[in-house]
Amino acid sequence: MAYLEMKQITKVFPGVVANDNINFSVEKGEIHALLGENGAGKTTLMNILYGLYRQTSGEIWINDKKVAITSPKEAIDLGIGMVHQHFMLIPALTIIENVVLGMKENKQILDLKRAASDVCAEAAKYDMTIDPFMETWKLSVGQQQRLEIIKALYRGVKLLILDEPTAVLTPQEVSVFFTMVRKLSEEGHTVIFITHKLPEVMQLCGRCTVLRHGKLETTVNINDVKNKQELARLMVGKDVEFSVQKTPAVPGEEVLSIKNLNARNNKGLPALKNVSFDVHAGEILGVAGVDGNGQSELVECLTGLRKIDSGVIRIMGVEIPKLAARTILEQGVSHIPEDRHRRGMLKDMSVKENLILMNYFKEPYSTKGFLNWKWISGYAQELCKEFNVKTPSIEEKADKLSGGNQQKFIVGRELERKPKLLIAMHPDRGLDIGATKYIQSRIVAARDSGSAVLLVSTELDEIMELSDRIIVMYEGGIIGLIDDPQVTREYIGLLMAGTRPQDSLEWMSPCP
Ligand SMILES: Nc1ncnc2c1ncn2[C@@H]1O[C@H](COP(=O)(O)OP(=O)(O)OP(=O)(O)O)[C@@H](O)[C@H]1O
Ligand SMILES: [Mg+2]
Repeated sequence: MAYLEMKQITKVFPGVVANDNINFSVEKGEIHALLGENGAGKTTLMNILYGLYRQTSGEIWINDKKVAITSPKEAIDLGIGMVHQHFMLIPALTIIENVVLGMKENKQILDLKRAASDVCAEAAKYDMTIDPFMETWKLSVGQQQRLEIIKALYRGVKLLILDEPTAVLTPQEVSVFFTMVRKLSEEGHTVIFITHKLPEVMQLCGRCTVLRHGKLETTVNINDVKNKQELARLMVGKDVEFSVQKTPAVPGEEVLSIKNLNARNNKGLPALKNVSFDVHAGEILGVAGVDGNGQSELVECLTGLRKIDSGVIRIMGVEIPKLAARTILEQGVSHIPEDRHRRGMLKDMSVKENLILMNYFKEPYSTKGFLNWKWISGYAQELCKEFNVKTPSIEEKADKLSGGNQQKFIVGRELERKPKLLIAMHPDRGLDIGATKYIQSRIVAARDSGSAVLLVSTELDEIMELSDRIIVMYEGGIIGLIDDPQVTREYIGLLMAGTRPQDSLEWMSPCP
């Protein structure tokens, strides 16, 4: 008998059968991948296991015993923990306060000191040294995620559900994270791993279960799977093309020009140091770099969300630091934000309302101060169709959509504005392979119709697939500008790590 068995699980939301009679089982100690296209029902199935949703029908068995899980607390008591893609740590609290948050102690006063030393010991098992009394906001994304895992382990969790844990990690952090997960499994913990990155499944997992349109497609041993193409076929039901068709760029006029830009980060420290570059119409400039090397601050300066210390930014010849954020967007700038929940959408508003956020005051969205709902509805319906946004209706609240479908409508909305400058940060984040390819081809199409594209990503694959030129950011400066398509991944990787090979490489243009 399997350690965990979910039997004939069905979950119905108004207008959607998110899980349709799914049988899913996991053995003790295995790392089991849960795959499927955006909206296939992965998060829903795991939310049921973690007690966040109640199944419409079906049973859950653990160690051969039928259980009812009606809250995360009950799930944790049964040894089940979940780390969500959007972490739930409270930034202003210290590490240890976050770990013990919500835990009950028998004694009246919580012994923080003792808890701190226990947590340090737990972390040390996974080669992680932490200062339990440090505030959580000082941690990198990768550290926060490992802290979420430690927090679950401290509660005695035996089965960990990780929902797209690597989507926000840099390649370096992914390898640290993999080591931790392997160790967990060696120690007898069980891991359910949701991801869209198929090479990760091939590397890390023993078995994988594929969902398609809410139904179970199959469960396979990874050893029996030849390559990622085969996995993709299981998910999509047909062969999937991985690379995007793209002709060489034909750059036109200068759209974005940045000269000697300096700015500070939230802690008041220099984040951008004399950054200069330009982007032309009809080209995609990729900004590579390990997360936290100034990319977020750069994009914030460009979109009017961060004050600059010195330097000049011009978009279509207009100096922008003096403009309000909305006026910048009015200049023909589209922005696919890094954090879709904070900057990309309003969770409690409908899909339809979210689609008109930047334009509601303009014709044909509104006339004389009145919104043209009929026109807006038609527009929203078309956009959802075009970008394959799966939602029961355009009236659905945005946060009821699956993660990938939220991303699709934000990208669609921004591309549909036919921007002169598209600032895209991790446009593929959380997208399944089909959607990734579609969005990439639309970004190339935007380039071909004359948009200048600034593509910021920590994923080298995404950068290399799309960019015509690449700049690499390191510690707030530009460490390299590359305009030769023959440049290798390894070379860019070195630059990302801050090493600048001295041997004269002709294809390496000097920094402007
Ligand atoms: N709370 C909810 N209310 C209504 N519908 C929901 C809710 N949660 C999920 N759904 C719907 O259930 C379906 C499955 O969503 P789910 O989030 O499980 O997909 P997923 O496989 O995790 O996709 P992704 O890869 O995009 O994260 C979607 O159609 C979604 O709109
Ligand atoms: Mg999901």
